[in-house]
Amino acid sequence: MPYRVVQWTTGNVGRRALRAIVDNPNLELVGCYAWSPEKVGRDAGELVGIPKLGVSATDDVDALLALRPDCVNYSPMWPSVDEMVRILQAGINISSTAAFITGRSLGEAACARLEEACRRGQSSLFGSGMNPGFANLLALVSAGICDRIDSISVLESVDSTQYASADTERSVGYGRRPDDSDLHATIERGSAVFGDAVCMMADALGVELDDIVCHSGVAVATQDLDLGYMRIDEGCVAGIEASWQGRVQGRTRIDLQVRWRKGKHLKPDWPVEHGYVVRIEGRPCVETRLQIRPPRDFDAKSFEDFMQLGMIITALPAVNAIPAVCEAPAGIRTYRDLPLVTGRGFMR
Ligand SMILES: NC(=O)c1ccc[n+]([C@@H]2O[C@H](COP(=O)([O-])OP(=O)(O)OC[C@H]3O[C@@H](n4cnc5c(N)ncnc54)[C@H](OP(=O)(O)O)[C@@H]3O)[C@@H](O)[C@H]2O)c1
Repeated sequence: MPYRVVQWTTGNVGRRALRAIVDNPNLELVGCYAWSPEKVGRDAGELVGIPKLGVSATDDVDALLALRPDCVNYSPMWPSVDEMVRILQAGINISSTAAFITGRSLGEAACARLEEACRRGQSSLFGSGMNPGFANLLALVSAGICDRIDSISVLESVDSTQYASADTERSVGYGRRPDDSDLHATIERGSAVFGDAVCMMADALGVELDDIVCHSGVAVATQDLDLGYMRIDEGCVAGIEASWQGRVQGRTRIDLQVRWRKGKHLKPDWPVEHGYVVRIEGRPCVETRLQIRPPRDFDAKSFEDFMQLGMIITALPAVNAIPAVCEAPAGIRTYRDLPLVTGRGFMR
């Protein structure tokens, strides 16, 4: 029996998630939540660029809960604790890409509410994505060949010009003046879920951290940028670096770094790796690189099309985890708790 799934929103990530749910014989799309009023009532297939599916998008949460799906695949721009509590206590599991790994950055009170909702509904809550999410799993798996681990770092290094989510990008500091006194606090707030991923990795490695700190830096646009979804003035932030570090006795043991830039006109002109690099200092030292390229039959007419691959790799860690999340014991779950998550159902 396929797992019955409701897709929550059809934005950049949600569109690819919905298409994957429809494509996977182990999953069945039974509903679709629409946040935007203009999407309400429209066919979910039509919203994501595939033939009609006979499933209409709705903003009626009660109606979606009444469908009694096994899982909500949750990909709104901003996660809502109230919304997640409502879903979980109705007995519906959640697999999320919306800034959720352990819930630590939402605060203790929110985590307690989510755990309580899971207990009441006997449901589980899991969050992933490409990074944080799969990149952390890749690092943990890479560490599995070492008999000594001194430190692990994960670097995401990409040009995110085509990531058309203006509010998300503003929330991490894009477009601000570099001398804005709140800039580094903004970057820290906006990337706080990487601190959760540090915790998750430490937990999986059995390491007790003394503290978690965030260091950040910015690069500025050397000319006015019009990205379509937002403008960045010359001299304003068009590149962001953040390093979330888990420390033991003053030494950084886990370091999750991001380096994001928008386009070519940047000072300093940071190099990007166009992918993910795991580096383990230990015995042996390990370097694992994850790079993606389009399949031969990929109809990429533009760089924007190519960016769809970025959305696929963000959506699929959550979609592929749905069966495991549905079978997991109630509570907040991480990769530490789930069995091996693969691309089951996608090989034909
Ligand atoms: N871990 C990772 O690797 C990773 C990478 C990228 C993104 N993400 C996260 O994944 C989630 C989805 O990203 P995305 O790029 O798909 O986001 P998005 O396209 O900007 O927004 C997703 C959807 O959220 C709804 N929405 C719009 N404005 C909203 C608001 N003010 N409050 C609540 N909902 C709103 C809309 O739903 P409708 O479609 O129903 O109108 C929109 O399509 C985000 O939380 C993002 O941070 C994670």
